[in-house]
Amino acid sequence: MSKTTAVLTTFFAGTVAVGFAAYRGVQRPGEPVMGDVVREIEALGAMRSGLAESFTGEPDKETFGRVCMPVGAEAKRLATENGWKIAQLAERYRNPEHKLDYEALRVFKMMEDDTGLMGLWIRTEMDGAAGSRYFRRIDVEPACLACHGSKANRPQFVKDGYPDDRAYGFDVGDLRGLFSVFVTD
Ligand code: HEC
Repeated sequence: MSKTTAVLTTFFAGTVAVGFAAYRGVQRPGEPVMGDVVREIEALGAMRSGLAESFTGEPDKETFGRVCMPVGAEAKRLATENGWKIAQLAERYRNPEHKLDYEALRVFKMMEDDTGLMGLWIRTEMDGAAGSRYFRRIDVEPACLACHGSKANRPQFVKDGYPDDRAYGFDVGDLRGLFSVFVTD
């Protein structure tokens, strides 16, 4: 992502959050925290793109270990370090733990309708605590198709390991899913 796009995303995300906060008359995380969330999620997305582009040939368990596993591990590290709740969610998920909740589904539909909608903040609650939740779109790139392309061409380890897999049949540019970050007040 270019610097300008990143700045615009941050600005946009901030504007939406201010709008929601003003509307509901509630507090929101300080701007440094919002900036940190947006920046870390951009880095996480860029990390996967870089990793996905870095291999050639038939993806296997080891390739997966180099593409999506480090992304999940880094998300966990960020969550623990900052006290955030981070998830990757998708309508057509591979791992059933990544099912969209109702709130995320609403945002997913908005992002599906508007390909220019990169990210947004909402005021909400999670596990009984009030806070702010950030969503960032995850789009399909050419390198993702090795594992998220046609059903028949999925690597064997995916066919074997994910009997309830729905994360195939994507085209470049499709909305693959969302990053979700919840920050408690
Ligand atoms: C080497 C195979 C492989 C490649 C390449 C790959 N993925 Fe995945 N992806 C997987 C597997 C396997 C999972 C399930 C991980 C798990 O069990 O949590 C997954 C999960 C995901 C998820 C979490 C939601 C879900 O469906 O469980 C997202 C989002 C995602 N991938 C996006 C991408 C994007 C975007 C790219 C390209 C930049 C990409 N993937 C490239 C194999 C791959």
